[in-house]
Amino acid sequence: MVNVLLLTDVSVVRGGNTILDSVNWSVDDDQRWVVLGPNGAGKTTMLQIAAAIIHPSSGVAEVLEEPLGGTDLFELRPRIGFASTAMARKVPANEKVIDVVMTAAYSVTGRWNEEYEEIDERRAQRVLTEWKLGHLAARKFGTLSDGEQKRVQIARAVMTDPEILLLDEPASSLDLGAREELLQLLGGYASESGSPAIVMVTHHVEEIPRGFTHVLLMSEGRIVSAGPLAEALTSEALSTTFGLDIELTENDGRYSARAR
Ligand SMILES: Nc1ncnc2c1ncn2[C@@H]1O[C@H](COP(=O)(O)OP(=O)(O)O)[C@@H](O)[C@H]1O
Ligand SMILES: [Mg+2]
Repeated sequence: MVNVLLLTDVSVVRGGNTILDSVNWSVDDDQRWVVLGPNGAGKTTMLQIAAAIIHPSSGVAEVLEEPLGGTDLFELRPRIGFASTAMARKVPANEKVIDVVMTAAYSVTGRWNEEYEEIDERRAQRVLTEWKLGHLAARKFGTLSDGEQKRVQIARAVMTDPEILLLDEPASSLDLGAREELLQLLGGYASESGSPAIVMVTHHVEEIPRGFTHVLLMSEGRIVSAGPLAEALTSEALSTTFGLDIELTENDGRYSARAR
């Protein structure tokens, strides 16, 4: 068991507002976490720390056993896979799908020559196939459906074989079919031996894939509940997190929630 993320008393203050408030959290490589909380709870900010994109205002954040601040971020970042809508917006609409995925590798190796190009292309094609995108490799990113674009973002994030995979709302805005297809792929990936630690931010308990093991509930920059799903995901904890009387039900490893 290897620790991949360790936050100790981590706070983030921006423009006088405390966005993360003394957060303590530990993620090991055999854990698959879901992070739930209302808009503005600080979920994306916490992922940005885990992705070594920002530093805490105070406290200590260790990513892959490297304390942020004491580490060369350019060596650390390729070991982290990060997929978010914000990142997808930066992809030019006319970029070929295979290139969207392959460029993740170029930022790792920092090399560009024929030899690497071929190896990377083969790997990108394999990753695309794993995420059911193999037939779309030559298509332009902008012509894909929402569901396909989300899967391309994840394929790009896993292209470098990261040690921690961070997903910020990968299922948001998907229709039922696309959501279920994505959850099936994510659940399968999460359960594979050799898959990395995963942290997935979502707004809905319905989007927790099978195979995920832990949950972190947060509200107003603070952790409400964290731990194994069976212990930490309760009607009471959800009610506190969302400020509403919520009833949680579980059925064969999938969850649903509604106001009481
Ligand atoms: N650069 C910033 N300056 C000031 N406030 C910010 C900044 N970025 C985010 N925030 C605020 O921090 C809070 C948490 O944001 P975020 O981490 O994106 O939450 P979540 O992802 O849970 O919706 C929000 O209230 C947001 O408005
Ligand atoms: Mg967010």
